Amino acid sequence: MNKDFWSSKYQKDQTGWDIGHISTPLKEYIDQLKNKNLKILIPGAGNSYEAEYLFKNGFENIWICDIAEEPIKNLKARFRDFPDAQILHEDFFKLQGRFDLILEQTFFCALPVSKRPDYAKKSHDLLQANGKISGLLFNFKLTSNGPPFGGNKEEYLTYFSPYFKINIFEPCYNSIKPRQGNELFFNFNKK
Ligand SMILES: C[S@@+](CC[C@H](N)C(=O)[O-])C[C@H]1O[C@@H](n2cnc3c(N)ncnc32)[C@H](O)[C@@H]1O
Repeated sequence: MNKDFWSSKYQKDQTGWDIGHISTPLKEYIDQLKNKNLKILIPGAGNSYEAEYLFKNGFENIWICDIAEEPIKNLKARFRDFPDAQILHEDFFKLQGRFDLILEQTFFCALPVSKRPDYAKKSHDLLQANGKISGLLFNFKLTSNGPPFGGNKEEYLTYFSPYFKINIFEPCYNSIKPRQGNELFFNFNKK
């Protein structure tokens, strides 16, 4: 599941994860954020509807990362004001920098399961002291069929609890309809 794998998904329009707009849980989470200066990273951002929403709502320190070129081109074509310098066309695991907040949606589940511990550690390394990671993780049985790869709260805690204080980790009450009952909303603070 390298760059070519993901690019070909976009080229063949096999993008079942792409809902075409910001998801309700992330919109409602963003809407209650007070500090518009937060430096926010969206890894595996795909078509970046969340980044566009943030930017249009006064959060300008928004950074997106994706290894595939296609969704980046889509963002640029759709939203010309998004700053080029804040588009990181590279592998999340090689990113440098420090952010206040990382927003997760369908990136963790898209990674090989063996990368999950690295995801938790890398997210920790990319956050400032007191930084947060928040978003959605799938809550369905993990099988070899994927992406998306499932998992559950207990499994996820084994990766995240060494690096994060768990503030919220509960079934998501405002998932979009096709994901209802299959998502956990989380909010963790960097330890
Ligand atoms: C399932 S899609 C989710 C996209 C977006 N988060 C959404 O909700 O629509 C996973 C995305 O992660 C990107 N990706 C996969 N591995 C990556 C990596 N190692 N570094 C950065 N992006 C990656 C893919 O190109 C793809 O756009």
